[in-house]
Amino acid sequence: MEIIVLSDPAAVGRHAARLIADTLAGKPDPVLGVATGSSPLATYAELAALVHNGLDLSRASAFALDEYVGLAPAHPEAYHSVIHRTVTVPLGLDPARVHVPNGAAADLRAACADYEAAIEAAGGIDVQLLGIGANGHIGFNEPGSSLGSRTRVKTLAPRTRRDNARFFGGEAEAVPVHCLTQGIGTILRAHSVLLVATGESKAAAVAAMVEGPLGAFCPASALQLHERATVVVDEAAASSLRDREYYDFARDNAPKGAFDLD
Ligand code: GLP
Repeated sequence: MEIIVLSDPAAVGRHAARLIADTLAGKPDPVLGVATGSSPLATYAELAALVHNGLDLSRASAFALDEYVGLAPAHPEAYHSVIHRTVTVPLGLDPARVHVPNGAAADLRAACADYEAAIEAAGGIDVQLLGIGANGHIGFNEPGSSLGSRTRVKTLAPRTRRDNARFFGGEAEAVPVHCLTQGIGTILRAHSVLLVATGESKAAAVAAMVEGPLGAFCPASALQLHERATVVVDEAAASSLRDREYYDFARDNAPKGAFDLD
């Protein structure tokens, strides 16, 4: 893992957007994995600025990590809607190339299998952007998720429902109980992964992901297995890391090209 600690959320967004743009540059049909949540919003805003200045993502495909079960796609908090307004529109993506798991499907298992097949058909994900839950989840892979899991139905953790209550009028009970999510095994198949985290509330999860034992209790720790995993955090989210000195030293002394994401 490459750990990049930057001063504040704005710097995290700028750096992550630049890494994504560099990864996708020159690919005729780039494939971007996108995440919901507040963490990647600064990255999307910076990517939108790059698009405004000439970065062309009109041929890019995008795959979302997850979706609630039981919300109509047009519901404002359905990830179909969230991805449309925070990613598809600002980045100038072709809506026909933006994919979100179908949490409204009559046959959810078939919807999951179809989603895996669509990622495969697109040639896999070039760079998967991730946030991290305060409990260490990635996508909606809650603690205890199989490290080899693929896209499937999951039950949300009570803590995740409380964390996401702010999007549902402050009512944890209003947050759906189930979701579809790419599995940890699906995420590990992305050609590269880029996790962004900011704020003190993520410090414990970031430390467990980077420095804790690899295990299903911290799903994000599975990224320790990925060959091309970059973690970009601000000072607050980095505040519980024990080996900060090394991460800064390694960043400042990176062998040229060693951490290229391509
Ligand atoms: C959500 C999403 C995750 C996201 C996480 C953190 O529930 N399913 O993909 O990374 O929780 O959200 P935030 O960035 O708002 O803290």
